[in-house]
Parts: sequence; C-alpha cells; structure tokens
Amino acid sequence: MGMQDNTLLYDVCDLSFVYELGRQKVHALRNVSLQVKRGDFVCLAGPSGSGKTTLLSVLGLIEPLQQGTVRFEGRSLSEMTETDRNRLRRFHIGFVFQQFHLIPVLSAEENVEYFLTRQGVPKAERRKRVDEALETVGISSQRKQRPLEMSGGQRQRVALARALAKRPNVIIADEPTASLDQATGKEIMRIFAEQTRERGVSVIAASHDPMVFAFAARQIELRDGEVVSC
Ligand SMILES: Nc1ncnc2c1ncn2[C@@H]1O[C@H](COP(=O)(O)OP(=O)(O)O)[C@@H](O)[C@H]1O
Ligand SMILES: [Mg+2]
Repeated sequence: MGMQDNTLLYDVCDLSFVYELGRQKVHALRNVSLQVKRGDFVCLAGPSGSGKTTLLSVLGLIEPLQQGTVRFEGRSLSEMTETDRNRLRRFHIGFVFQQFHLIPVLSAEENVEYFLTRQGVPKAERRKRVDEALETVGISSQRKQRPLEMSGGQRQRVALARALAKRPNVIIADEPTASLDQATGKEIMRIFAEQTRERGVSVIAASHDPMVFAFAARQIELRDGEVVSC
C-alpha cells in the first residue's frame, strides 16, 4: 500500500464549541485537538455530557465550525464553500446512530437505496451498491422487510449498510451498540473493524461500552469537553 495510508483524514486543532441557550452558554468542546488517519478506528469515550456527540456532529459537518480548525484530507473546512461541505457530508461521510434512524415505511433495501437515489447515483450503480452493502452486513435475506419487522441488531445492520453504500471515507457512529445486546453489538463492531482493515475506511465511534473499546485501535477520552487522554 502506498502513501495514502499516511494521509490524515481529520486534523483537528483547538476545536471549541459553545451552545447558547438564551443567556446561558454551554461549553461543549474546549480546545480539542486530534488526528484520525485513513483506516483508523477511534473510540471516543467519556461520561454522558462530556462532548462526544458534539464532536461527532462537528466532524460530520452537522454542526458548524465555531472555533479552531478542522482539516479533512488536508482541506480546511473553513475554506470550503457550503456546497463543498454539503457534498462532503453527503458523499464521503457515513452516519450510524444509536436509534438507527431508518425510514419505517421503507423496506431494508429501500432504506439503503434511498440516499443513493437522492444523491443522483444511477439505477444500475445503486442496485450494485445496495446488493453489496446488504451482503457485507449479512442481511440480504431480510432485504424486503421493514424496520418494525426486524430485531434491533438487524436494524442496525441496515443502518450500517446504508452508510456503507455511500462508499464513505469515514463512518461516524454515535453509541452504535447502546440499543443492542452484547453479542449483537459485537457483530456490528466486527463489521466496522473489517471495513477499516479491508477498505481503509476510518471509523470514529462514541461509546461508553468497554466491548467497543476492545475493537478500536485507540481511545480518546473526553471529560467536560476536553481531551483527557489519547
Ligand atoms: N442542542 C444542545 N443545546 C444545548 N446544550 C447542548 C445541546 N447538545 C448538547 N448540549 C450540552 O453540551 C454538552 C455536551 O453534550 P454532548 O455532546 O451531547 O455529550 P455526550 O455525547 O458525551 O453525552 C452537555 O453539557 C450537553 O448538555
Ligand atoms: Mg452523546
């Protein structure tokens, strides 16, 4: 493998983030600096309220950059246009959440295909990607079922397939196993790990769960919005 492996996917320097609630200010992130390489598997740890979700939201371009710098593959987010940032979020970042966020009226395969359709991916290519993603997460035989007809583990597989169908550079996962039992959670983490090894996808997962830490290559611990260990 070539130089690509040393490319920094994220280079974050002195990132701070404040929520304003009327006159009150919540300092959710304070001078956070970290780097994530291609194929890296990082776990964000720390108690509830320590800033994990906020950090993932800024890295996923869901929340705006307020203070500090974030480079994605060498490009500073603050120097990109809004169109560039939207494209980055839509095409290069896969999201997985604790509560799956599937569309209830769509089948498993339709949930995976939906975002690709919205992105304007042509039909034949969509088919190929949907088949491949469902296969990767081991849920091809349930492809016609709707979320409510599936177990939590199956739903999270569908959500993961949806993220993978984008062919993302990075998967951002917020408490991906918190709604699952340990055995099912492990299955999900195994798929994450496989993606980092075999595809060079980076994974950044927030979790309280020591089982998740065991799969990650490294752990970054947050406390009150600050990185306390790396
Ligand atoms: N939308 C919001 N508005 C105001 N405060 C928020 C909001 N989201 C999170 N916070 C606050 O920001 C801090 C960090 O929260 P969060 O990033 O959700 O941490 P974690 O994911 O580690 O539980 C907490 O004090 C939380 O109450
Ligand atoms: Mg959170």
